[in-house]
Amino acid sequence: MGIVASQVDIQWLPSVITMNRKTMKHCSKEGFLMVTVVVASWLFATPFAAAQPASHVNPKSTSDQVFKNVQVLKGIPVDDFLGTMGIMCAALGFDCSECHTGAGTEKVDWAADNPRKLIARRMVQMMTTINRDNFNGRQMVTCWSCHRGRDRPLTTPTMENMYGPAALDMDDVLVQAPGQPPAEKILNQYIQAVGGAERLTTMKSYVATGTSVGFGGFGKGGQVEMAGKFPDQRVTSILFPKEPERGNSIRTFDGHEAWLRTPLTVLSEYQLTGGELDGAKLDAALSFPAQIKNVLTDWRVSMPTTISDLPAPDSQAVEENKAVGIGKDRLVNVVQGRGPNGMWATLYFDQQSGLLLRLVRYGNSPIGRVPTEIDYSDYRDVDGIKMPFHILFAWLGGRDEFQLNQIQLNVPVDARKFSRPRPEKPTEHEHH
Ligand code: HEC
Ligand code: HEC
Repeated sequence: MGIVASQVDIQWLPSVITMNRKTMKHCSKEGFLMVTVVVASWLFATPFAAAQPASHVNPKSTSDQVFKNVQVLKGIPVDDFLGTMGIMCAALGFDCSECHTGAGTEKVDWAADNPRKLIARRMVQMMTTINRDNFNGRQMVTCWSCHRGRDRPLTTPTMENMYGPAALDMDDVLVQAPGQPPAEKILNQYIQAVGGAERLTTMKSYVATGTSVGFGGFGKGGQVEMAGKFPDQRVTSILFPKEPERGNSIRTFDGHEAWLRTPLTVLSEYQLTGGELDGAKLDAALSFPAQIKNVLTDWRVSMPTTISDLPAPDSQAVEENKAVGIGKDRLVNVVQGRGPNGMWATLYFDQQSGLLLRLVRYGNSPIGRVPTEIDYSDYRDVDGIKMPFHILFAWLGGRDEFQLNQIQLNVPVDARKFSRPRPEKPTEHEHH
């Protein structure tokens, strides 16, 4: 099928949900520093090499139909397949080039095998066998269970582990904790905090604009446009008016179909048909808070905890985030619900204000759950409804950070904006 990409901007990011800063340091500091350097050097080595034209991938095609040499991760949607690549990077503390020779350059041949890639393929089979033979096929052991951000798993506990502070990583799937209120109570507090049920039902659409700061300043200078239509249509476009050769990044969901255009990646545009489709629907529905109680089922409330902001890359930590109070720990109520196709989502509500500060959703893949985290802050009043003006969207392939400067409610939005992104003319800089 001949899908060749000249560059990929998928980066390694720590995917741990840490409950406080101590744990974070404890489990990922070294890996993070080491890997950040690697990522930065190969990312910036070949900046914005000409992107290949969008590949025309049939939406119903599975991984082995779209790619040339898929032997074990067959028969899954392309978004789930790329999710497994993100899991491998995160679990081993690798970037793509550590298993795919030449990734990040024009010479990459994703399909070519090499010793490391062959080991990784064997590991997938080993993992599947362990789960089949010992856990009834439930996905209890994953790459992360053993690797924890290292290429070679540790084998021996240390005295530091034994006598040092306990690691407080949370389970993915939570249970209702004794003594905690029902989820409905916390969801009602949130509805109250953002404006009250009555006011929220008046919200039928929104249009937001602002600036985008990509990972490590990589997407700096981008302009973001977001729009949504009740109940669950949504579009996020990142435009680079000063660097038209970069192309626009666009995520759309029209209530049925979801599309992702990310110009400098393996597939510059494709339809999301796996876990990312469910994720796109959830994101879109949640931007209309009135319906929060209906977007997930099987709600449960875990123990309250503290969360802090995701660590920012060095280049961003100082200037960009000062305004939004990075590094502040906040006491949160933790609520979880179940979505379709094995998706889970955990919502973290500020105990003080009742506002939603974080959403972590987990999609399925054959080698473990694929986490996506969205952090909301800088809530401001828009026509009596509190809307987040700062949004951090982090997935295993990168992160986008948006600082909005304007949100308008109930303005008309062209329905075509939510469907498959329109072809980009080479000279087209602006959207309008
Ligand atoms: C730990 C090793 C490892 C890492 C890291 C890794 N991959 Fe892979 N990749 C594999 C293996 C193994 C396969 C083959 C899977 C199979 O046979 O089912 C593969 C296959 C692929 C393919 C299919 C190529 C084809 O035409 O057959 C693509 C595309 C791909 N990887 C992209 C990526 C991207 C993008 C990244 C970085 C986010 C990445 N990979 C990171 C191990 C890795
Ligand atoms: C049950 C534990 C376990 C699981 C699960 C596991 N691994 Fe491993 N993996 C190991 C061990 C142990 C080694 C080191 C083997 C050695 O050094 O000979 C290793 C080595 C590797 C290596 C070679 C690293 C190097 O030094 O170049 C790769 C690549 C790898 N694993 C990928 C994966 C991937 C991808 C997954 C998930 C699909 C995975 N592993 C799941 C235990 C595991």
